[in-house]
Amino acid sequence: MNDAVTQPAGRAGSAPRAHVTGWGRYAPAQVLTNADLERMVDTSDEWIRSRTGIRERRVAAAHETTASMGAVAGLRAIRTAGLEPDDIDLILLGTLTPDYWMPSTAALVKEAIGNTKASAFDVMAACSGFVYGFATAQAYIGAGLAKHVLVIGSELLTRFLDYTDRSTCILFGDGAGAVVVSASDEPGGALGVEMTTEPQGAYMIWLPAGGSKAPPSRGTIDRGEHYVRMEGNQTYRFATKTMATTALESIRKSGLEPADIDLFIPHQANVRIIEGGARGLDLPMDKMFINLDKYGNTSAASVPIALAEAVNEGRVKIGDNVTIVAFGAGFTSGAVTIEWTADPARGLIGEAEVRPEDVHVRMPVDWDSVDPIPEALSELMARRGPVEVPLDDVVPGEPERAHTEVRA
Ligand code: ACO
Repeated sequence: MNDAVTQPAGRAGSAPRAHVTGWGRYAPAQVLTNADLERMVDTSDEWIRSRTGIRERRVAAAHETTASMGAVAGLRAIRTAGLEPDDIDLILLGTLTPDYWMPSTAALVKEAIGNTKASAFDVMAACSGFVYGFATAQAYIGAGLAKHVLVIGSELLTRFLDYTDRSTCILFGDGAGAVVVSASDEPGGALGVEMTTEPQGAYMIWLPAGGSKAPPSRGTIDRGEHYVRMEGNQTYRFATKTMATTALESIRKSGLEPADIDLFIPHQANVRIIEGGARGLDLPMDKMFINLDKYGNTSAASVPIALAEAVNEGRVKIGDNVTIVAFGAGFTSGAVTIEWTADPARGLIGEAEVRPEDVHVRMPVDWDSVDPIPEALSELMARRGPVEVPLDDVVPGEPERAHTEVRA
C-alpha cells in the first residue's frame, strides 16, 4: 500500500486539492495532409477545411503504439512537474484505441516509464476519456487516496479508420497528451466537475466488431465492422449543444461565470462545433484554444495535447481560470474548471528532457506485431526524404528532429 492511502495529504478536516503540476504531449512525425486524402477518397482540401477546420493530422509510425505515445507524453508531464516516475501512485489512461484488450494500456505505460509503485487502469469514455480521467484523479486526491496522479489521453485512430469512407477518415489523427495532478493544501487547482452520459447516442459513433457482441472473424473483417462508424450530423447536433451546457455547469459549480474563464480547452473535433460552444456561452472565439488544424480529432488525446500547447505557448498564466471540456461516443461529455497554479515555463523543460527514441514499450517474447500500417497509408509512410514538422513542434535541444528521415 502506498503512503497516500494511509496518510491523506490534506489538513485535518479539509480535503486535499488537486493541482495540475505537470503537462506534456507527443505528436508522431508523419503528417497526413488534406491533399494526401484527396488522392485517396472523393474529397477536397476546401471541403475539409470549410466543414471542419482541419488541414492535416499525424500518423503513428509502425513502431509506435498508443502505449508508446502515451509513455512519452506521460514522462514529459512527470519531468515538467519536477518528479520521478516512482512519485506517481496512480496512472489513468483515456483511450478508445488500446494496444490490446488486455492488459490495460495504462499498465504498459507504467512499465515503460519505469514506475514500480502505481496502480494503473484505462478509462473508456471515447473522446471524453481524458476529462473523465482527470475527474477521477481529482476524486482520488480529494479522498486522500493518491498524491500524484498521471492522467494520459493517447490514441492511435489511424489504424481503426476505413480509408474508403470519406465521412470519417478525414477527421481523425494520432497523438498523446498527459498531465500530473498533485495533492496540495494550497487554494486553486481543480474546481467544479461536470460529467454526463446519454446512452441513446450509443450507436451514433461506434466500432461494431472486436468485442464480446461481435468477436473478430473473417465475416466482421469482410464487412468492415472493425472500423469507426459515425452518424456525423447527429453527433454534430449533440456536440454543439453539450459543449456549452457541460462547460457552463462546471463553471457554475466552481462559483464562477463564463466571463471569469480566461481560456477554454475544448475537444478538437470540428471548429464549427467549437464556434457553436462559444456562441452558447456568449463568449468570443479568442477564449477558445484551437489546434485541430494541425492534428485533426485525436479523441481522448485532443484536450491534453491542446492544454500542453496552450500553456507552452504562453496562453495560460498563474491565477487564470481554465475550463477543459470534451464530448464523445456514448454519448459522453465532461468538463473541469481549473485555477492554474503551475509555472507555465516548466513545460518546455519537460519536453526537452524526454526523447521519444529513449522510451520503449516491452513486447512479448517471440511475438512480432504484423504490419500495423493501414494499407491505404503505406505509400505515405514509405515516403523517403524529410518530413516537414512545424517549427513549434520541434523539441528544444533536438533541432535534428525538425527533419525526420522516414525510411521504407
Ligand atoms: N468530402 C467531400 N464531401 C463529403 C465528405 C468529404 N470528406 N464527407 C461528406 N461529404 C458530403 C456528404 O456526402 C454530403 O453530400 P450530399 O449533400 O451530396 O449528400 C455533404 O458532404 C454534406 O454532408 P454532411 O454530413 O451533412 O456534412 P456536415 O457539414 O454535417 O459535416 C462532419 C460532416 C464534418 C462529419 C460533421 O457532421 C461533424 O463534424 N460531425 C461531428 C463529428 C465528430 O465530432 N465526431 C467525433 C466525436 S468524438 C468521439 O468520441 C470519436
